[in-house]
Amino acid sequence: MKDSYYIVALPGDGIGPEVLTQGLRILRTVGELSAINFRIEEIPCGGHYYFEHEIEWPEGSFEKCQAADAIVLGAVGHEVDGKTVFTKPGKPYPEPQLAGFAQVILNRQKLDLYANVRPVKLYRGVKHKIHGELKQVWDAGKVDYFVIRENTEDAYTGETNPIPDGRITPIRITRRATVRVVRYAFNLARRRNKQRKVTCVDKSNIIGAHRFFREVFREVGTREFPDLKLDYAYVDAFCQWQIRNPEWYDVVVGPNLVGDIISDNGATTAGGLGLAVGGNIGDEHAMFEPIHGSAPKHAGKDKANPLAAILSVQMMLDWLGTRYDDERLTQAAERVEAAVERLLSEGKTLTYDLIGEEKASRCSEVGGAVEENLRMIG
Ligand code: IPM
Ligand code: MN
Repeated sequence: MKDSYYIVALPGDGIGPEVLTQGLRILRTVGELSAINFRIEEIPCGGHYYFEHEIEWPEGSFEKCQAADAIVLGAVGHEVDGKTVFTKPGKPYPEPQLAGFAQVILNRQKLDLYANVRPVKLYRGVKHKIHGELKQVWDAGKVDYFVIRENTEDAYTGETNPIPDGRITPIRITRRATVRVVRYAFNLARRRNKQRKVTCVDKSNIIGAHRFFREVFREVGTREFPDLKLDYAYVDAFCQWQIRNPEWYDVVVGPNLVGDIISDNGATTAGGLGLAVGGNIGDEHAMFEPIHGSAPKHAGKDKANPLAAILSVQMMLDWLGTRYDDERLTQAAERVEAAVERLLSEGKTLTYDLIGEEKASRCSEVGGAVEENLRMIG
């Protein structure tokens, strides 16, 4: 337990700042209700910041992230006239594939946030947008699993090698990174104590590096976790099973790019990206974020769904509670989740993505309603 928790908030681009404002509102309410002192420091960053200043973020920002007890991020990705831009004309970014996304990728890699933990959980009352209509397709309670995405390597290392007629981006998969992420997944399946099953999702029928990932998964699983079931799927087939049979899954683990894709796909079955969150977790640091992008076309309209940002704060509270053995934080996380669950099951104060344009509430109204529920719960 600590007297004060230092939280770095990175609002970023597009809808990032407005959804994070609602997330931080909930964090401040938790501080007030549970008498916990949060020292929150907001740091500007993202594509727009780079575009204007030709530097990722103010000098010393990475050191602040390093010193923080936890980091919470809005979204990154900047557009001008419908085109993603990173730099001013004539000023190319040194590593184009990281441009504008650097805070996300560099923090994940430099802070060694090796497990990207993405719950796929359908709350009661949530409707999905299918055929442009809002209906409930999947059963709440039957969609409840975790995607654990390796977060530091695979195709995300920023390396590209030019060849005469193109470029090669290597897929790097090492034993060290694989062992620790699969261990994280196995330990989570034990802690959850539900199906006690971990599914390895990859493209090992064709990609050699993925075959290695799967071998390490099997080795660690059979040696260290004989009490758990090991399950395997190729990513293409997995994409249809996760829609058809989400109840099969408990904990799913895969290489970085596979995890990126299947977590968005899974979000479809849990009400869409407006509700999907991710924790980037390492042994020393952690960063929490909604997994939707910066959605530039909705930016500044007070329209976007703040629930993913609020649930990111919720996940952060839970992680901090375990890390610092602070029961106040663990309980606060439970109450924030209950406040969100209540809002969703009442089905009234929700943004357009969950209730349709006509009945839609504003982003700030949804934040306000969660705050009210939280005060009621205590
Ligand atoms: C995510 C995002 C990022 C990723 C982008 C913004 C670089 O899609 O967090 O899933 O690919 O990891
Ligand atoms: Mn993604």
